Amino acid sequence: MPTDEITAAAAGTWTLGDRTVRRMGFGSMRITASPDRDRAIALLRRALELGVNHIDTAAFYVSPGGTLRVGTGPARYATELIRAALSPYPEDLVIVTKVGFGYDPQAGFTEAFTPAQLRAQVEENLRRLGLDQLDVVNLRLGRGPGAVPLVDRFGALAELRAAGLIRHLGLSNVRPEQLDEVAGIAPVVCVQNNYGIDAYREQDPFVRTCGERGVAYVPFFALAGTGRETGASADQGEAVEAVALAHGVTPHQVRLAWTLHQGPHVLAIPGTGDVAHLTQNIAAASLRLTPEDLARLG
Ligand SMILES: NC(=O)c1ccc[n+]([C@@H]2O[C@H](COP(=O)([O-])OP(=O)(O)OC[C@H]3O[C@@H](n4cnc5c(N)ncnc54)[C@H](OP(=O)(O)O)[C@@H]3O)[C@@H](O)[C@H]2O)c1
Repeated sequence: MPTDEITAAAAGTWTLGDRTVRRMGFGSMRITASPDRDRAIALLRRALELGVNHIDTAAFYVSPGGTLRVGTGPARYATELIRAALSPYPEDLVIVTKVGFGYDPQAGFTEAFTPAQLRAQVEENLRRLGLDQLDVVNLRLGRGPGAVPLVDRFGALAELRAAGLIRHLGLSNVRPEQLDEVAGIAPVVCVQNNYGIDAYREQDPFVRTCGERGVAYVPFFALAGTGRETGASADQGEAVEAVALAHGVTPHQVRLAWTLHQGPHVLAIPGTGDVAHLTQNIAAASLRLTPEDLARLG
């Protein structure tokens, strides 16, 4: 496909509350690993040139030491790279961030539970991004039940939303019953969970439930799958390879197209620090899989 025909717009749009996003977005976790700050900034600008208007981030995406545990030298925050690259922000850009987790160079990963801790994380995101209001904030849950009940944590964010610091709320790393638990406190515009062709498919019914409720379902690690932070496996699997060969595309593009075929409410946020991969990923917005492809991919 000629580069000037590649556009995130080809996947259509979805609404997060009153904000409209193109379904092919960008995950910013990997840019902190870029050895070169200018390269990360150029990549973010290129994403927007290619039509991306939905960027996922977190204040704890920071190297060295943050989520990817890589890098040396001065701290490089994804949120600050986004600000350096894209501020003043275009009107239509929607930046989605998450709280509930933090990273401290001394303490490592920390979970934020209390209203004061959550507020501090919201304020950190506002400061690093240079914003007065965050478009969407996901409450990111950890593995255990947490020191403070979910409804109280979500309630604390609902108060910050009422105060105008947050426009819309979402949930991350959640089970279906947890979506029910927070019903009535504030609307949930998106769910962000680990999900992909061969990762956590027990969530298939949850993906459908989100669609029925008008909630966006945003898989993370749609490429990396269960490889998580270590990245995509070299072994893509026979079915993915075969469909890629049939369409003359890469296995990663098949994975992203499959993601987008899971429903109009399913959004893609592939992450990369490589501009050639970025271009390929966005080109997948226009890749249409046949019913036979989808059956083969399971
Ligand atoms: N809510 C949560 O708890 C949570 C957790 C983790 C992540 N996230 C969000 O989800 C986003 C997506 O996750 P992710 O960035 O870790 O993983 P991903 O998009 O599933 O995969 C990224 C991996 O695939 C490689 N890759 C990307 N495009 C490629 C291509 N076209 N060809 C070959 N390899 C390719 C990347 O390496 P290269 O850099 O070399 O391209 C990297 O190793 C994150 O950026 C973050 O915003 C959310």
